[in-house]
Amino acid sequence: MAKKQKIEIQLEVFENQSELPKEIQELMKSAQIARDNAYAPYSQFKVGAAILLDSGEITLGSNQENAAYPSGLCAERVAVFHCGAVFPKQTIKAMAITASSKNHQLNEPIGPCGACRQSLSEYEQKQHSPIAIYFMGETGKIVRVDAVKDLLPLGFDSKYL
Ligand code: THU
Repeated sequence: MAKKQKIEIQLEVFENQSELPKEIQELMKSAQIARDNAYAPYSQFKVGAAILLDSGEITLGSNQENAAYPSGLCAERVAVFHCGAVFPKQTIKAMAITASSKNHQLNEPIGPCGACRQSLSEYEQKQHSPIAIYFMGETGKIVRVDAVKDLLPLGFDSKYL
């Protein structure tokens, strides 16, 4: 008989930004600045991501769209690929993500897409330590997970290659 198994993940939910730890408040503010500078003329949906490195440095990403739609890239991957290129030896402690839309107010937490979860997961494994992820809409609650692996249960990784 097949056995049923449960996978549980733990979320932490903050009611608003002022509840976040100080350094994460700063990180989220940086993500908001990145978001406002996103290049999203086609979707009008702007996303900002800010990465906190163990050195204390912050690096940013925002979505970059293209007239040939699939040639664009999400904010989270812009940020993490930049990190991989410029700070390959540093450990990523946390990422903050925020989104806004020209069409409506986004006041609930918006998690990263599946492709970004996969890309972030690669860096988590590469550095052998968890990356805490904080995500929100434009306003409202913020969700925190301890690690990318919490956002991608049963994920694919290099051990299968
Ligand atoms: N987008 C991101 O930047 N991150 C995500 O996790 C989801 C979607 C971008 C891609 C595209 O530029 C726009 O949001 C609408 O999908």
